[in-house]
Amino acid sequence: MKFFVDTANLDQIEEAQDLGILDGVTTNPSLMAKEGIKGKNNILNHYKNICEIVDGDVSAEVISTTYEAMIKEGEELASLHNQIVVKLPMIKDGVKAAKYFTKKGIKTNITLVFSAGQALLAAKAGATYVSPFLGRLDDISTDGLNLISEIREIYDNFGFKTEILAASIRHTMHIIDCAKIGADVITSPLSSITGLLKHPLTDIGLDKFLKDHQKGN
Ligand code: G3P
Repeated sequence: MKFFVDTANLDQIEEAQDLGILDGVTTNPSLMAKEGIKGKNNILNHYKNICEIVDGDVSAEVISTTYEAMIKEGEELASLHNQIVVKLPMIKDGVKAAKYFTKKGIKTNITLVFSAGQALLAAKAGATYVSPFLGRLDDISTDGLNLISEIREIYDNFGFKTEILAASIRHTMHIIDCAKIGADVITSPLSSITGLLKHPLTDIGLDKFLKDHQKGN
């Protein structure tokens, strides 16, 4: 199972990389805006900076919504660095663009996926990753984890190679449940990943070990 961090914050990406468990990064236009990254050149430079920090795949999302514009924008993004994955929206032109990039050997991530049918189309287009947004489904009283299970079943039925990248992760239990279901990747805020470290019995046990060591010396 791969761990991606879902942020454009360079400090957090460095912290996750330093932890030694990071396999990649996902970004989106909202996350870039949150870091105050504006203007085409700054945005492209920021993607390059992220690639310099992390060893794995870095998803960079197009803001175009037509096929021709997505191809142009995606090719420019892909040319920035060999770790760039072109992130495309789950719309008709996004699916067509995914097929185009697949044929060219450029990795893709189809995003804003909220149904099993959409995930099936992403796999048919040969996308490298499909990003179902489980937290946003939970937000509207729909079982986001059930969608991950449905996609897992469908992909396993036919041996689709597209990796399920569970996105819109909100907390540690989402990560654990995705691991149980067999999502290939989770992309998460750093806080949910570091949250996996925490257990009070670990802290109590370590405190006792250290105190006992002090007594014995
Ligand atoms: O990768 C997609 C993710 O960033 C969406 O998360 O929390 O905005 O629903 P969220």
